[in-house]
Amino acid sequence: MIEDKVLCRCEEVLESEIREAIQAGARTLHGVKIRTRAGMGLCQGQTCQRLIARILAEETGQSPAEILPATYRPPCRPINLSFLSGVEG
Ligand code: FES
Repeated sequence: MIEDKVLCRCEEVLESEIREAIQAGARTLHGVKIRTRAGMGLCQGQTCQRLIARILAEETGQSPAEILPATYRPPCRPINLSFLSGVEG
């Protein structure tokens, strides 16, 4: 029996889940991300992105250089409109 590994520690996504997402049609890091949440965690893919890219290349036959980085968004926080306007409230 082959032991499954956690590839995305932040979102607790297993290697088998990454491979299943690719078999279900994911061809990009973004495709894997939206199917599994891998890369959406606290580190925003800093830890898992390269591992997932390697599996994606292996499963799809693409060269690792062909795999584009996923899009990441900075964490959001609510702010007061006064901050944007420059007027103290
Ligand atoms: S390890 Fe995947 S988002 Fe942090």
